[in-house]
Amino acid sequence: MTIQTIPTAPIDGQKPGTSGLRKKVSVFATPGYLETYTQAIFDAVSPEGAVLVMGGDGRYFNREAMATILRIAAANGVARVIVGQNGILSTPAASHLIRKRKANGGLILSASHNPGGPSGDFGLKYNIANGGPAPEAVTDAIVACADRIDRYKIIAADAPALSNLGEVRFGDMVIEVVDPVSDYATLMEELFDFDAIRQMIAGAFTLRFDAMHAVTGPYATEIFQQRLGAPSGSVINAIPSEDFGGGHPDPNPVWAKPLYDLMLGSDAPDFGAASDGDGDRNMILGRGIYVTPSDSLAILAANAHLVPGYQIGIAGVARSMPTSTASDRVADHLGVEAFQTPTGWKFFGNLLDAGRATLCGEESAGTGSDHVREKDGLWAVLMWLNILAVRKVSVATLVKEHWATFGRDYYSRHDYEGIAGDAAAELMDALKDNLSSLPGKSTHGMTVNAAEDFSYTDPIDGSVSTGQGIILTFEGGARAMLRLSGTGTEGATLRVYLEQYAPPDTSHDLDAQTALSNVIKATSELVQIEHFTKRKAPDVIT
Ligand code: G1P
Ligand code: ZN
Repeated sequence: MTIQTIPTAPIDGQKPGTSGLRKKVSVFATPGYLETYTQAIFDAVSPEGAVLVMGGDGRYFNREAMATILRIAAANGVARVIVGQNGILSTPAASHLIRKRKANGGLILSASHNPGGPSGDFGLKYNIANGGPAPEAVTDAIVACADRIDRYKIIAADAPALSNLGEVRFGDMVIEVVDPVSDYATLMEELFDFDAIRQMIAGAFTLRFDAMHAVTGPYATEIFQQRLGAPSGSVINAIPSEDFGGGHPDPNPVWAKPLYDLMLGSDAPDFGAASDGDGDRNMILGRGIYVTPSDSLAILAANAHLVPGYQIGIAGVARSMPTSTASDRVADHLGVEAFQTPTGWKFFGNLLDAGRATLCGEESAGTGSDHVREKDGLWAVLMWLNILAVRKVSVATLVKEHWATFGRDYYSRHDYEGIAGDAAAELMDALKDNLSSLPGKSTHGMTVNAAEDFSYTDPIDGSVSTGQGIILTFEGGARAMLRLSGTGTEGATLRVYLEQYAPPDTSHDLDAQTALSNVIKATSELVQIEHFTKRKAPDVIT
């Protein structure tokens, strides 16, 4: 097959954010854009003879993009691409496949929870041989290649369809189409006590899983309905669609409101959960209760030893900086290490590889373990189900008992979306300039103890990541964290994360916004949020 070398120009704005490169579909579909970025990845990672995994969340443009990527992969000497049937792989399933098949890396086509469709978002992420997102050294190398690129190589023939299982040759490359679900479902059976969960479901226990018209539909149907015996209809919105049914596939109380309302209403099943576009996020609910992702991480850590895959105990718990400190107290109680990393799953990779952390979590609905190197929505749901099957209590009881033992971290995230890029930068710059003047300041009954521009030194390889957000610590166990989103595709998003600790012997029954009202007011004033954003209130509160 003929290999063409096509001249191209460096692409702008290509710096990968928190999780791969995300852009509007219209940008990725601009002739030459996807081709150039894909070539930049291959220039950075030496593809000759490589085995790669490829898959995506089924969103609009995935099929076209995969056809193009396969042509570029073959032209660059890739030996084999293992791809999910019809291009489908959830992000955790792709991570598992990279590890299981000892691939050199993988390409994940997804913009996670961002909306899909022709006017929606698209994304491309490179994962390394451990199955996890490329660390900064690799993403920086990709950026450097994209900055100086002047050509891409592509096979002058159409790539084969990905609808039939099995192997096909494409030039000198083999394309192997695999079932996207089976290896992943088998891994879940190895980690969890499916018999115990099956028995619980065969009893009176009811559950509802909302796949949000996204990639987990087929996985959840196979696992919950086929293998665990939940009645049909337990998994809803189970057919993936290219635009996620017109929705915003982000499993939180705002975007998964129908499930949230069901679980807080009078007809609630015992357990509710949802996952996002590419299957790595999760939302957990019980009858009458929403579990914050920060609490979920802490509760899973405290109970992990009840689950077969973790019965020897956990080595440590890692959380992203803005995630509440609830899991730190559990780690302390268990006598294991607690880590605070920058936002983004890639920062957990080294800790997991080195066996220093077993469980990891982010406040943004990401929870996972050392079974793969991505966060994993269905894994989190199965952890909860397995723990409930052993403990034989309701979600609400489990959560309240946890608070009674460890105390409660009231938590909320306030997002100011689509603000002008300069306004966002000015706010952060002003905050950094004023940082040293903040300790000792008091307002709305809150006194600042410390103000820090968070930087992280990886304990395994010593790499340093600076400018990872601001942490304000207040007297009395409250924190406020501020950072700019690295995944948005329009304007800038300011994220303000707020937490207030309530010790075991105090009330845990307040509404979160009420419990946080002083830290919210103090932070708004100290940071002058309204002055910079011109917004009186956040756009999204979760
Ligand atoms: C967001 C979340 C972050 C997560 C990332 C990818 O990034 O906040 O925790 O790792 O999506 O799912 P952000 O937009 O805040 O940069
Ligand atoms: Zn995701």
